[in-house]
Amino acid sequence: MKKLTAENLREMYLKFFESKGHKIIESASIIPENDPTVLFTTAGMHPLVPYLLGTNHPSGKRLTDVQKCIRTSDIDEVGDASHLTFFEMLGNWSLGDYFKEDAIKFSFEFLTSEDYLGIPKDKLYFSVFGGDDDAPRDNESYNIWKSLGVEESHLFFLPKENNFWILGSGIGPCGPDTEMFYDTGKPACGPDCSPACDCGKYLEIWNDVFMEYYKSEDGNLTKLKQQNVDTGMGLERTITVLNNLESVYDSDIFKRIKEKLEELSGLKYEDNKKSFRIIMDHVRTSTFILGDDHGITPSNIGAGYVLRRLLRRAIRHLRKLNINENVLKELANLYIEDYQEIYSELTRNKEAIFRELDKEYDKFSKTIKDGERLFYKTIKHLEGDTLKGEDAFKLFDTFGFPIEMTEELAAENNLKVDIEGFKKCFKEHQDKSRTIDAGSFKGGLADTSEESTKYHTLAHLLLATLQEIYGKDVIQKGCNITSERIRFDFNCDHKLTDEEKARIENRVNEMIKTNTPVTWKEMSYEDAKKEGAHGTFENKYGSLVKVYTIGNLSKEICGGPHVENTGVLGHFRITKEESSSAGVRRIKGVLED
Ligand code: ALA
Repeated sequence: MKKLTAENLREMYLKFFESKGHKIIESASIIPENDPTVLFTTAGMHPLVPYLLGTNHPSGKRLTDVQKCIRTSDIDEVGDASHLTFFEMLGNWSLGDYFKEDAIKFSFEFLTSEDYLGIPKDKLYFSVFGGDDDAPRDNESYNIWKSLGVEESHLFFLPKENNFWILGSGIGPCGPDTEMFYDTGKPACGPDCSPACDCGKYLEIWNDVFMEYYKSEDGNLTKLKQQNVDTGMGLERTITVLNNLESVYDSDIFKRIKEKLEELSGLKYEDNKKSFRIIMDHVRTSTFILGDDHGITPSNIGAGYVLRRLLRRAIRHLRKLNINENVLKELANLYIEDYQEIYSELTRNKEAIFRELDKEYDKFSKTIKDGERLFYKTIKHLEGDTLKGEDAFKLFDTFGFPIEMTEELAAENNLKVDIEGFKKCFKEHQDKSRTIDAGSFKGGLADTSEESTKYHTLAHLLLATLQEIYGKDVIQKGCNITSERIRFDFNCDHKLTDEEKARIENRVNEMIKTNTPVTWKEMSYEDAKKEGAHGTFENKYGSLVKVYTIGNLSKEICGGPHVENTGVLGHFRITKEESSSAGVRRIKGVLED
């Protein structure tokens, strides 16, 4: 088995597939374009969806790449041996070209050949789709593995929940898959132990998806017009396996930052694994988000909120390691240097990365100071030795003061915190805002950036304007807000003329000048629809929704936050208008005083 570094593996993978007629393409942005259902690119196939559906790709029918991905659903698990929020996915695609036989043969050769990974065959296990009412049992893949010499005892038929792949939204191209596992040598957890269980014996390293179906919003599965292959091999996980490491954090990727943290803190990784891992992971992910050419900055909504949460958690764990000064730039720079050959955007955007890290560090420092002040004020009047759950929640909700910090402060003052009470308040708050900002960790980090809030309200006025001008069929196809600008996508079949752009600007500015109050009400989704509220992302909402109304100008289902009155928005100017994809135009604009 080859002991490869991350760099070796990337190169070996791309060269192998190049030798099999694949064109190497660049990683797409980590912020998906034109997909309002998710905040980040979660898989290599994500940016390729139009091509899986039949659009011709300029580089042909066989592609290979290394894609930057972020998955935040397990963010709280980071700190253990295997979870990461950022990872690189190696992939090869057939867009209506080869199918199961070649895909499986390529995978097997790359995994086992001495010229490539050289993994002993007896260490590999494979799962294939067992079939159900929607799609048949995948005997073909099973037989191909067998024809390559795989023993039946190393092959498993598994149900849809294990061996059928689709994007997290549950809509789009999809299909049965066959997954490849490495046997770590741990004992089986019981007689039913299989690659389906997560006891740690079998580690998935690669997934070949045979995308020949499309799942629509109503749940129907139809055949695509072409049979595709979509594969994904986790880079970090595979080098962990190849080097026989205990944890992904022991690989060469994290070597320099780990040493730097030991130097800065005077503490050993071995004794402080959790904090080290959280810092190493979160700083890496934040560096990639900030360094992306799509330029997301910390905010209280969407991807910007995830970024804020990652950075603040990293800062908190730096403090746990007694590192109280701002070392974020120093740490991020190690990643910028290490990845400069493959992700040159990090170097290109280095100044912006550093600027935003400093800004967020300063903001969070202020949050901590304000929170500490309120904490000491609260405990002055405390009866007993326990801080009430609602007081801890107030700190969290008003100042974005993390509960862990409240607990730390309490411990320093020989006090306890009513964590159950805190959780109850938190849950009540969550229940209220559950429909809101799905997937973006809505949880009450206050410190709302005023600027991004204005752009949020602007988005409503812009949609209302576009509907006035082009008709009620106009829908929002995507919206991306930072504290500096809005990027707004909508369906439209032509390039806007200068007159049209001026008309849109003028109408939005007219609406702003009406000084209309922005109000909201919570109601059931059905009532919201009855009242004529717009809401584009319907499948994401639960039963209770927040409806924002701007006089008789706009009514939208939305999580907020919004300004109180349109008058504060200032003056809207369109800075750019361009095509976003077929039939979708993109407006970029700013608010000025
Ligand atoms: N799209 C597949 C995955 O992410 C390959 O696992």
